[in-house]
Amino acid sequence: MSDLIEGYLGKTVERKKSRVPAKLDYIQSATGLFLGLFMWGHMFMVSSILISKDFMYAVTKFFEASFIFDGGNPLLVSIVALVVFIIFITHAALGMRKLPGNFKQYQVMKAHADNMGHEDTKLWFIQAFTGFAMFFLGSVHIYIIMTHSADIGPYASADRVWSEWMWPLYILLLLAVEFHGTIGLYRLAVKWGWFDGNDPKTTRKRLKTWKRVLTWFFLILGFATLAAYMKIGYENAQAGKVGERYTPTAKVMQLDNTTGRLG
Ligand code: HEM
Repeated sequence: MSDLIEGYLGKTVERKKSRVPAKLDYIQSATGLFLGLFMWGHMFMVSSILISKDFMYAVTKFFEASFIFDGGNPLLVSIVALVVFIIFITHAALGMRKLPGNFKQYQVMKAHADNMGHEDTKLWFIQAFTGFAMFFLGSVHIYIIMTHSADIGPYASADRVWSEWMWPLYILLLLAVEFHGTIGLYRLAVKWGWFDGNDPKTTRKRLKTWKRVLTWFFLILGFATLAAYMKIGYENAQAGKVGERYTPTAKVMQLDNTTGRLG
């Protein structure tokens, strides 16, 4: 009954406003923080290919817990991907509350932002646009990874990127993720006053510099990584080796040792 009254009047019988919007804001911040930090970790793991194929292979096997299960268990990666997917969907659903509902609302917000000439208000538009794009781009990627977790590795990933045409999607996703992620973390720090100290104005300037540096850093790292997977995938396709799995150097040497030859 109380819900019904609040639904009609916007206030409870005690004439109080609901605390739900504040709680939803908090959940949106918490899921955003998790996803932002997850993406930094994810980027470092995926970029292991820039060091070597063997290193990327070792990272993959580590996440499959090969130190517990012989040869690793990709189901663990699927479970992590499912958890990330649920957090991703929760964050997106909560983010939808902030999008303008019709053209009139959009027009009001745009006029307000243009009139204020305030950089942080303009950042909101980038968040809304990149967030919307990620609804589609992010979902495709996470679903594929979740259902094909056994196909992650130096060759399997490179084949997906090149021969299975994921690179155009990754270019767009990378741009959306890096802008959305660093702007999001910056806005979180400002919103909750994490590093405010005695002089919030100087802190905000410093945070802006960090935002710019981190965006460039992860964009450069991301595109270098993507180029590396595309190159390996292209070479595999040229050599007719699509679908082959990578054998780490240590195993090749072991194999040769058993036949008496050096690897
Ligand atoms: C547990 C969840 C995830 C796993 C295991 C995972 C794994 C991977 C792997 C192995 C790659 C290399 C290419 C490939 O194999 O297809 C990759 C690339 C990529 N992932 Fe994820 N991913 C996850 C979640 C996400 C999320 C939530 C996003 C953002 C919404 C994301 C964005 C990207 C982007 C942009 C690339 C291309 C990066 C580049 O090549 O520089 N991933 N991911």
